[in-house]
Amino acid sequence: MAMWQPPSKIVHPLPPARWPSADEAARARWFQPADVGPVCLRERTWVPAMVPWRASESGDVTPEVLAWYERFARGCPGALVVEATGIRDVASGPLLRIGEDRFVPGLSTLVETVRRASGGRTRLFIQLIDFLALRRRPPRDKYLAQFLRVRPAHKTALGLSIDAGDDDARARLAQLDDAGLRAVLDAREWEALERGHRERVTDVHLPHVARLPAELPGLFAAAARRARDAGFDGVELHYAHAYTMASFLSRTNDRADGYGGSPDGRLRLPLEVFAAVRAQVGAGFAVGCRFLADECIPGGSDPSDAVRHGVAFARAGMDFLSLSRGGKFDDAAQPQVGEAVYPYTGRSGYECMPTVRSDAAGPFGRNAEATRAVRLAVRANGFQTPVVVCGGIGTFDHAEALLADGTADIVAAARQSLADPDWFAKVRAGRGAEVRRCLYTNYCEALDQQHREVTCQLWDRPAPDDPLAARSRDGKRRLVPPPWPNPAIA
Ligand SMILES: Cc1cc2nc3c(=O)[nH]c(=O)nc-3n(C[C@H](O)[C@H](O)[C@H](O)COP(=O)(O)O)c2cc1C
Ligand code: SF4
Repeated sequence: MAMWQPPSKIVHPLPPARWPSADEAARARWFQPADVGPVCLRERTWVPAMVPWRASESGDVTPEVLAWYERFARGCPGALVVEATGIRDVASGPLLRIGEDRFVPGLSTLVETVRRASGGRTRLFIQLIDFLALRRRPPRDKYLAQFLRVRPAHKTALGLSIDAGDDDARARLAQLDDAGLRAVLDAREWEALERGHRERVTDVHLPHVARLPAELPGLFAAAARRARDAGFDGVELHYAHAYTMASFLSRTNDRADGYGGSPDGRLRLPLEVFAAVRAQVGAGFAVGCRFLADECIPGGSDPSDAVRHGVAFARAGMDFLSLSRGGKFDDAAQPQVGEAVYPYTGRSGYECMPTVRSDAAGPFGRNAEATRAVRLAVRANGFQTPVVVCGGIGTFDHAEALLADGTADIVAAARQSLADPDWFAKVRAGRGAEVRRCLYTNYCEALDQQHREVTCQLWDRPAPDDPLAARSRDGKRRLVPPPWPNPAIA
């Protein structure tokens, strides 16, 4: 499915890159240490969470997962965040899970792998995620014959008696054209037909959704305890994008049970989850969150909400605040029949991972201004909580400028680190001219969307002289880039 693109679609060139000498890099802000609660980062470089679709169907760490994180660790970023990892032990495809103690040994191996590959230089966090049920878009006939729950209102709208059989109603519905069907189904039923059924945190008529505030603190706390047991340095609570916790924080959350409907109500569960996690793991383990500087959807939370959220999280004692942008279901493109709606296909998805085909603002540092507002407010309220900026940052000078002008304390790069996991090491060594620069055209994101192993177009063509490189399931692509001799860990 094609990603949304701004109507103006200006193709922006990559910004010119000036690379520092090793001496200049050694003095640079980006390469100075930073405290993240109880953890000291050797430098302010950060690889944010990226799902590479390499876990097993049962949610376990695989050799491919180990190879992926080992490759990032060889570049020795200050921090590396392991991909969104499910806090429940439920089937969710090849996504990592941490919802049961049996996942701890595999995750411990992952921690040891990163420690070894980075020579102990990289601090390792894991992103903890909860998400609600999402069904694939059904074929129309199947939806009407099986999935739709026939209600009396349907029968009345179809001119049937409410005592008529459900099968009669289904047969009549099947004969209607789209306009007729739309007049009979309610908005959520129509959505389930057109896009696949998607649960929302506001579906409080569903008992398991009503119970989320009672259950999630314990689930997140148990997951964080497992992360600590596995040897991670900390956890990042996933309060961003399209998932459960971001939906509680969203202005669109109008729950009337005290967990929505007002700014304090929307913050209540995120703060209760954090309190439960902290109570479980103590102050010696870093706990922060990733949340949105702007949801970028009509009626959604905006930067003024993000400021409020950031100050509340800092006041509660979070150890870091990592800002992302957009990535919502609300404006996602309609999926094909048999596929699930994907939250990075609408305008908000574009804002999360913008490409060089952009509007006048361009893709580089698009989240910086809103992140800066959050950091300024956190500081104005007397908190020193480190703030992580992310989004279209792929040069040394850009990262330095964001640290110098008070936008952030730590600078993260996702796609640039995927394009070249050694780029931090190259810049540090004064060999920036060797950096393989991300093109910001989202080949990787298209793979992510199809749940195929994520790779980068700049390095995934297997060289004929390297038949041993691990390949993707279709046998066509390398799974990690070729090695680069990092002088720091040679
Ligand atoms: C393949 C891929 C997978 C991603 N998976 C996650 C994820 O698991 N959790 C998350 O918070 N963000 C995820 N992101 C978003 C990135 O962390 C980052 O916010 C985004 O790519 C913008 O940063 P960049 O311009 O440096 O790439 C993913 C991005 C990509 C490209
Ligand atoms: S595939 Fe494209 S957008 Fe993704 S990391 Fe590589 S160059 Fe960057």
